[in-house]
Amino acid sequence: MYIPSYKEEPFEWYKSMRTQRIVREGNSVHVFKYNDVVTVLSNHNVFSSQFRDLLGDDIKNELDSRAAPSILILDPPRHTELRGLVSSAFTPRKIESYDNYIRELAAKMIENIIEKGRCDLVSEISYPLPIMVISNMLGVPEKDLKKFKEWSDALATSLGRGPDLRTQREMSEYFLNMIDRNSNEDNLISRLSNVSIDDKKLTDQEITGFSILLLVAGNETTTNLITNALIELSNHPDIYKELVDNNKIAGDIVEETLRFRSPVQSTRRYAKYDYQINGFNIYKNDFIFLYLGSANRDEEIFKDPDNFNPFRENKRHIAFGNGIHFCLGAPLARLESRIVLEEFAKRIESFSIERLNPDDRIDSDIMYGYKRAIINVKKI
Ligand code: HEM
Repeated sequence: MYIPSYKEEPFEWYKSMRTQRIVREGNSVHVFKYNDVVTVLSNHNVFSSQFRDLLGDDIKNELDSRAAPSILILDPPRHTELRGLVSSAFTPRKIESYDNYIRELAAKMIENIIEKGRCDLVSEISYPLPIMVISNMLGVPEKDLKKFKEWSDALATSLGRGPDLRTQREMSEYFLNMIDRNSNEDNLISRLSNVSIDDKKLTDQEITGFSILLLVAGNETTTNLITNALIELSNHPDIYKELVDNNKIAGDIVEETLRFRSPVQSTRRYAKYDYQINGFNIYKNDFIFLYLGSANRDEEIFKDPDNFNPFRENKRHIAFGNGIHFCLGAPLARLESRIVLEEFAKRIESFSIERLNPDDRIDSDIMYGYKRAIINVKKI
């Protein structure tokens, strides 16, 4: 079966695959319809995220000695315990307290774009903003940001293609050195070092694993959300004009971008038992490929799904997943991108993005977005 990398637009392919609903090839099963994807994601007892159980002992031991498996690749009961611990250090209220900091950062970057008039949107704002925010939250000094970019890029490319051991090792060492159990500084690493539930604390390896996850799960994804939203607005100057007149619609634009150009197009599980998804046979140890980006364009769920319409009523996209692994960083990603759109529309009357070509796209089996997008802006 032909499976596109997201260097190409996948949406026509999805449309034709949705007519077949679920497709098996050997022990790989590809799921395209919204309800079927939700069935798998919400049934974590059958469909496991714990892929490490399938790795050889050598690789497993090498990985485990440095960073414990993150919540993304754990099943209950460990997933439940760990997620409880980390989410207490990552509450929506805490995230909202970053509003001013993010706004100032975004405003500065947008002023810079205006000064240049023509520049690369990704390197001026979509990329640096999320990485600066998460580094600030974690307590990483600014001088190390360049190193972070290299790691984050290497890990994003390796996602879905097997672990990148060298990068994992370098990052683990870096974060292990940052752990200070006696520190009471107001940053995520020191909070993670000190949170406890029933007297249980996170181990060094768990703190390291979680910090790496935040870097991988949070950066490239939010970068793509910001870029994709601005690309869509450049395709729809009428909607951008509405945003300039009324920045309350920024949140709706973010939600529709998540549905229409989902930054994470697919995720995976493996079957622990035989099962049937809506009559389709799944066998133990099958790999299940779940196309979130296809589910989000399912014509049985979303009216006129190939139309970018921030004002649609049904906003129940699954761009952040579903079930117990629902994205922990969703409030942060939403806040960052909403603020960028609001601050952008305050200062820029109109803008255009120069023709994008395939080489500008990210080469990934999971992420959907652009490495580069040249923007021309006209100031208010
Ligand atoms: C999980 C998407 C931003 C942290 C997930 C999942 C998706 C997702 C689809 C579930 C994967 C699965 O079930 O296999 C996105 C998108 C983002 C984004 C589209 C931006 C637009 C962030 C940010 C952070 C973050 C900013 C943190 C700083 C996490 C974590 C998990 C996760 C920790 C694992 C949760 C668990 O396993 O319980 N994300 N994410 N994400 N995301 Fe995000």
